[in-house]
Amino acid sequence: MLNNTFIKQIKTKIIIALDFKKINQAINLIKFLDPKIYRLKIGKEMFFLFGLSFIKKIINLGFKVFLDLKLHDIPNTVEKSIKSFSDLGIWMISIHAMGGKEMMKSAKMAISSYKKKPPLLVAVTVLSSLKNRNLKDIGIFISLKKYVLLLSKLCKKIGLDGVICPGNFSNNIKNFLGKDFKVISPGVRFLGTESHDQKNVIIPEDVSKLNIDYIVLGRIITLSRNPIQDLNLVKSKINNFI
Ligand code: C5P
Repeated sequence: MLNNTFIKQIKTKIIIALDFKKINQAINLIKFLDPKIYRLKIGKEMFFLFGLSFIKKIINLGFKVFLDLKLHDIPNTVEKSIKSFSDLGIWMISIHAMGGKEMMKSAKMAISSYKKKPPLLVAVTVLSSLKNRNLKDIGIFISLKKYVLLLSKLCKKIGLDGVICPGNFSNNIKNFLGKDFKVISPGVRFLGTESHDQKNVIIPEDVSKLNIDYIVLGRIITLSRNPIQDLNLVKSKINNFI
């Protein structure tokens, strides 16, 4: 294991989670965002409502799109699903590490067949809404930290680009798997504010020392009365933001 001080400090980038019910709510936010600075995440909510045409619209506005469908199915289905997005020009796509080795290999094979630049392939380790006791409920009796690392090691071995995990585990992953293995972390909240369903939240002040490659900003921005002001506030608290 490497010592923490060997990690070159990672420059954190911001992904905004477009979790809205209506397209115009998303557009009202997007119109203030510079695609050179912000990446956008389309998750199940907007994908189920508005499908591929919405993704195309966002990509045509010049944004890098993270399609966060957290695919978790038999290998054949995951492979075919990922192949079906091959023409879109998606920047990043997510699967579930708990889908297992064969499923992840099939996902990797699917993006290798892309003719256009393939997306980054990342896997959810554990949802940031889960705590140690939630793992026990589903029969997993090692700690969250150990489980996240175990799954991250498997993802790296298979050739994935990174993992989605609670931000507090980022340094541990970087220590074992190196600085180039990407860490993406949701669940960012201002100190003392509502954490909603998230159990493993991080505050913007801690982001720099955690060495997270991408933070995902959801409700901290989408529920804000003044999203741009809050976005700037988050940025101002991150030393090594790019
Ligand atoms: O609103 P909040 O900041 O909690 O947003 C979290 C976003 O990140 C949601 O879009 C959610 O689907 C996503 N996400 C997550 N936990 C993961 C992976 C993705 O919360 N492990």
